[in-house]
Amino acid sequence: MNDTPGPEKPAQPHVHLNDGTTMPQLGLGVWRTPAAETADIVRHAVAAGYLAVDTAAIYRNEDGVGEGLATHPDIYVTTKLWNDDQGYDATLRACDASLHKLRRKTLDLYLIHWPRPEGGKCVESWKALVALQKDGRVTSIGVSNFRAEDLDRIIDATGVVPAVNQIELHPGFQQHALRACNAKLGIATESWSPLGQGQALADPVIVEIARKHGRTPAQVIIRWHLDSGLIVIPKSATAKRIDENIAVFDFALDADDMARIAGLDRADGRIGPDPATF
Ligand SMILES: NC(=O)c1ccc[n+]([C@@H]2O[C@H](COP(=O)([O-])OP(=O)(O)OC[C@H]3O[C@@H](n4cnc5c(N)ncnc54)[C@H](OP(=O)(O)O)[C@@H]3O)[C@@H](O)[C@H]2O)c1
Repeated sequence: MNDTPGPEKPAQPHVHLNDGTTMPQLGLGVWRTPAAETADIVRHAVAAGYLAVDTAAIYRNEDGVGEGLATHPDIYVTTKLWNDDQGYDATLRACDASLHKLRRKTLDLYLIHWPRPEGGKCVESWKALVALQKDGRVTSIGVSNFRAEDLDRIIDATGVVPAVNQIELHPGFQQHALRACNAKLGIATESWSPLGQGQALADPVIVEIARKHGRTPAQVIIRWHLDSGLIVIPKSATAKRIDENIAVFDFALDADDMARIAGLDRADGRIGPDPATF
């Protein structure tokens, strides 16, 4: 495997986080990637040029990510605290378990997976993430699926603003209000299910823009996330698609394309669970 960046791997954009660090703007998502295949898939992605991987304790494939990245300590890894592990001490233990599976001494980014407003433990969990960052086990800390009121709750209690809020975001569900809230607070927005779990790929507008540029629908959507300033983590467990999804750094969408994709936003476009109740 040749890991040396060459001319076939153009420089990739990074996003500046509010804690002074940077993170790659494009990464590989591994939700629903089978545990037994994860190491090979991650190795393939790194060889293809991916600089980041997004996993979670609940995906049950942190082991495979750790194995796949064993000789790639520079690849940026995100994992997430599962709901059952919320609470101060439980969070510290869960982070150690994830670090062990990932074979890392330090995690690049640790997220609270869901706010679980009714569980009432998210402030304690956030305090634990702040402690993990202070003691160096985690470089950057953030949240996922947090609404404006969830963000306010943890910031009011600690004074610490998350670096990232990872939320459902794709052409059919563009989340303009929450993106504006994140931006106002200095939080980077990261798009989960960026391809709408594959559903967005058949949209006639996306297909037409893809045809115009001689690209695939997935490449057009990933380019839209990048051009919108979003961190994007498309998932594929298919080698050819993993390659396709990173071949997005040598073309640009124009203002007309961006306007047409803006028109695909729908108030009822949510595919995943509602953070208010999940
Ligand atoms: N924080 C959260 O609560 C949360 C929730 C959901 C997801 N996430 C993260 O976001 C990542 C991405 O979201 P996602 O996995 O839900 O969905 P996604 O990335 O929007 O779509 C993945 C689906 O699209 C297919 N696909 C990928 N590239 C393709 C291509 N070039 N052509 C045709 N089909 C393609 C994949 O198929 P194959 O795999 O069969 O190739 C898979 O079925 C996850 O893996 C996870 O890391 C986070």
